[in-house]
Amino acid sequence: MPNKKANFTVSSELKQAIHDLNNIFTSTLASSEILEKLCKNNTKISKYTQTIKTNSLQAIDIINALTNNRTKIKKSIAIIDIVSKLKMTLKPTLPKGVKLQFQLAKNLKKVDANYSDLYRAFLNLLINAIESITAFGTIVFSAKNKNDQIIISIKDSGKGISKGKLKNIFDEGFSLKKDKLNAGLGLTIVKKIIENHKGSIDVSSKLNVGTEFIITLPAIINSEVKKYKKQTHKILLADDDKIILELFSDLLSTYNYDITTAFNGKMAITEFNNNKFDLIIIDKIMPFLDGLECISLIRKTNSTIPIILTTGSQETIDKEYPDLKIAKKMKKPWSFEDMLKTIQNLIG
Ligand SMILES: Nc1ncnc2c1ncn2[C@@H]1O[C@H](COP(=O)(O)OP(=O)(O)OP(=O)(O)O)[C@@H](O)[C@H]1O
Ligand SMILES: [Mg+2]
Repeated sequence: MPNKKANFTVSSELKQAIHDLNNIFTSTLASSEILEKLCKNNTKISKYTQTIKTNSLQAIDIINALTNNRTKIKKSIAIIDIVSKLKMTLKPTLPKGVKLQFQLAKNLKKVDANYSDLYRAFLNLLINAIESITAFGTIVFSAKNKNDQIIISIKDSGKGISKGKLKNIFDEGFSLKKDKLNAGLGLTIVKKIIENHKGSIDVSSKLNVGTEFIITLPAIINSEVKKYKKQTHKILLADDDKIILELFSDLLSTYNYDITTAFNGKMAITEFNNNKFDLIIIDKIMPFLDGLECISLIRKTNSTIPIILTTGSQETIDKEYPDLKIAKKMKKPWSFEDMLKTIQNLIG
């Protein structure tokens, strides 16, 4: 089906604001990733870095919604990043008799997901589970790898659902809540979200014993970044946001890449002419010469060097530039991990 767009145009002021916000959250995400690495064993600090990270992921989704872009941003998401937000949201309001446990397998693979949507799906299931427990009970959220999939189970010891009603629970408007207007949307939304992620959801239940929802999602294969490499590669990184330059050159240097930075197009060309690089990462919007102008100058003398174009605009992502031979276009805000994987795929 064609992707119908709603009937409003994004003003240039809004476009500018979105561009700036994307830059802000690119560096916020990167900072949280650096902090995460630095404070690996400090659970107290990790809690706060997680908040910065998950809030940034949600903010990115909100920014994307502002651009009126119907295709939701999907990123490589770790279930733990959703779980940490769920814990924070649910713990303060959890009824006294309800125990909520999270059991995540070690080395759980990541999923290609829209952070806010997947969070909303799990939250709906957990709220239903909490509501199913009248006095005392336990809810276990668990996740494990199974071949190229991730299996998530949300199991409660609540009142259960009778066989007759079980087949209707995903129907829009089906609800056993008597006191709430417009109830019965939760599971319809959950099913839609899971299906949008190429996953499936199943339910089993026994009256007065409990209910279990099992979600299967495709895992990202080979999502692990390679940690060690012998050879140093030289990368030119051009972006007019100096914070992004500093953060990413720091991060990439820890992976044995030799980084040269440029904060405008002219500088990028000068560096390119004076050095021999293995890869170029270049931002589209920069003063003096923009990213596309730089790439066309570079291509006049070098037609083979891999170039990654970073951009805040969906239009650029969608457009083809066959003469510029761009190896990969990456929409801001990109996470450090996605960038690292792209670099490793291109030059090792
Ligand atoms: N874990 C569960 N245990 C027992 N019953 C459940 C469970 N999850 C869902 N149900 C039943 O399925 C019905 C539909 O759930 P759904 O989340 O779609 O709507 P709702 O919770 O009634 O309303 P809302 O739109 O506020 O979520 C619920 O009313 C409840 O009777
Ligand atoms: Mg519900």
